[in-house]
Amino acid sequence: MSISIVILAAGKGSRMKSTTPKVLHSISGKSMLSHAIDAGQKLSDDITVVLYHQASRVQEAIEAEYENIHFHMQDAEQFPGTGGAMKGVTTKYEKTLILNGDMPLITQESLKALTGGDADINMSVIKLENPTGYGRVIIDNEKVQEIVEQKDCNESQLETKTVNAGIYCVNTELLNRYIPQLSNDNAQAEYYLTDIVKMAVDENKTVMPIYVEEEEFKGVNSKLDLADAEVIMQNRIKKALMEQGTTMRFPESIYIDCRATFEGENILENGVTILGASTLINAHIKTHSVIEDSIIEDSDVGPMGRIRPLSHLKGTHIGNFVEVKKSTLTGVKAGHLSYIGDATIDEGSNIGAGVITCNYDGKNKYKTIIGKNVFVGSDSQLVAPITIEDDVMIGAGTTLTKDVKKGSLALTRTPLKLIPNFFYKFFGK
Ligand code: UD1
Ligand code: CA
Repeated sequence: MSISIVILAAGKGSRMKSTTPKVLHSISGKSMLSHAIDAGQKLSDDITVVLYHQASRVQEAIEAEYENIHFHMQDAEQFPGTGGAMKGVTTKYEKTLILNGDMPLITQESLKALTGGDADINMSVIKLENPTGYGRVIIDNEKVQEIVEQKDCNESQLETKTVNAGIYCVNTELLNRYIPQLSNDNAQAEYYLTDIVKMAVDENKTVMPIYVEEEEFKGVNSKLDLADAEVIMQNRIKKALMEQGTTMRFPESIYIDCRATFEGENILENGVTILGASTLINAHIKTHSVIEDSIIEDSDVGPMGRIRPLSHLKGTHIGNFVEVKKSTLTGVKAGHLSYIGDATIDEGSNIGAGVITCNYDGKNKYKTIIGKNVFVGSDSQLVAPITIEDDVMIGAGTTLTKDVKKGSLALTRTPLKLIPNFFYKFFGK
């Protein structure tokens, strides 16, 4: 790997109208900055993120997820702008790829195209019907001459429909020479990174325009952009999974986290949500069920089932309105209206309608362990910590507070009272 990467993420992002830093907003389960880092890590082991606004919050979030990322603090008071962001950044390799932290949709293929060839600068350009807001790329005799920011354009430059998409791959030695020479003599009194293009042209260096897809290079600046980017990312994720053999009913109603992995043949019905780093192996997830950070293996869930983090279902049937949390269920049937939390349940066991594991006493959480072939009657409460051994029957409506030995029946019943004709005595005939 002979490429270094710098990700610009110091901007304020005021259009996002949020207390969360712009680059930490997530798309398909991962922050925009993480998407940029992931793309970068496939090309380089030298990645620097430039920070300023809410720097410590962004740095903490990234450090929790990645190792070996360098951080550089922009002196944005003295040196505002994208050129200012590059001041003092040092990179290891002979080429430096500069990315933006708010472009989560860039693909591997586009980054490869931008880092190829032997031009001194490769720059991303897009042809746009409406170039408003972008820096215009002035091309003369098929050669890039300079980039002029919209606010610095004259009338004819404003007409230019070829715009700067904002990503560059630059010869590191040139970059190190040009950055200290940038000035802020422009309409925004900012240090523009884009000025390095003219500097290179003036020295007869080669500047190669690389035409890119608008969709990938659209910066995410507002909540509306965020929603649009989410749709594009979701479509990519679902397309790839369907190509691998996943069946999806009404895919546009389905949401899948980019960290989820699918193996074998899976079926997702409409309205299904798959969150976190879930793994589905030959699973059938029915209408409007939610799966989060769990493994669903040779099992079916729903409709309207909810599998919460750290659950593992194997050969299990989960029916409607059943919530499972941090539990391992192997060969289990829980068909209706139950809460199963902090439990381990083994093969052949049946959890009746309305069964609840009482796993929380208001202070601590406790485990429920259920063996093989246990029949838990409807509407029973299992007060944890509790262990139910193999081949046990629990009568309907039992409040179980003690462990049960293999082969037993456990039953709590309040005696039934039957008073003939009471209704008529009470209300009259
Ligand atoms: C920049 C380009 C413009 C291009 C556009 C494409 C410049 C001068 N202009 O414009 O030609 O068409 O991108 O999207 O570069 N940032 C910092 N520190 C700063 C300012 C910005 O780190 O002081 C970061 C931002 O967080 C962002 C990136 O740089 O990730 C781009 O900043 P932004 O303000 O969006 O660039 P534009 O001015 O729109
Ligand atoms: Ca700007």
